[in-house]
Amino acid sequence: MDALECISTRRSIRRFLNVPVDFETIMTVVEAGSMAPSSGNVQDWKFIVIDDKEIMKKLCEYSLNQECIHNAAFLIVVCSDPEQTERHYGLRGQKLYTVQNCAAAAQNMLLSAHALGLGGNWVGAFDEEKIRTILNIPPDARPQLILAFGYPDEIPVHKRLKDLTLITYFNNYGETVKKFHRVLKDYSIDWEARLKQAHTTFDRLKEKTKKTAEETKKKGGSLIKKYTEKVKTTINSKKRK
Ligand SMILES: Cc1cc2nc3c(=O)[nH]c(=O)nc-3n(C[C@H](O)[C@H](O)[C@H](O)COP(=O)(O)O)c2cc1C
Repeated sequence: MDALECISTRRSIRRFLNVPVDFETIMTVVEAGSMAPSSGNVQDWKFIVIDDKEIMKKLCEYSLNQECIHNAAFLIVVCSDPEQTERHYGLRGQKLYTVQNCAAAAQNMLLSAHALGLGGNWVGAFDEEKIRTILNIPPDARPQLILAFGYPDEIPVHKRLKDLTLITYFNNYGETVKKFHRVLKDYSIDWEARLKQAHTTFDRLKEKTKKTAEETKKKGGSLIKKYTEKVKTTINSKKRK
């Protein structure tokens, strides 16, 4: 599976088979997280791998009883450890970069899990303080999100994506490209427009030709009539003489 296929086929999986995942596979997912980009390469994250069903049950209770937390084969709680980031980047580092760094790591883990045939779900809705207590997370670290993983036991329903024309601007916020399909190198719309134009021109010419033919016929008919009349008159006048 190449990167684009992995990105486009990944979906949130919330139901898992009761099948364990081997340690090597789990660590491959963790390692993928550790390879994510981070501000100034601070790698200000800690990953808590959980496969203890009792702990998972407790975490589930404080995550709005979301079943995936309990029925997953394993969880990874991604914690930010913002001290260094704050020191380097101040408030922006503490408030923004730490969150973004963990999100990048989380997405790497979800994608790698998908590539390995696992399903995963990102859980953000939990009681932070309770999770902190259950997992003994120190005050200087922060549980940012929980990832639930396991072999999938569901096929998610189709997801509607927002149209790219609505979410993409060029060079300025709010500036859309009128002929966006050309940016996507989809020329079929242009060809359809040209074809439609050609049809219109053809129809117009057909109509014009028909009209001209009718007029010519009408004019031709009256000329013949006129000529016949003239011949008749000449013959008659000759006869009279
Ligand atoms: C910040 C964040 C928090 C989320 N929290 C939850 C959650 O608490 N429970 C859940 O089932 N899914 C959660 N999700 C997963 C989203 O519901 C899911 O990604 C979204 O519906 C799009 O579906 P997809 O992942 O299949 O593309 C969260 C995702 C993100 C990015």
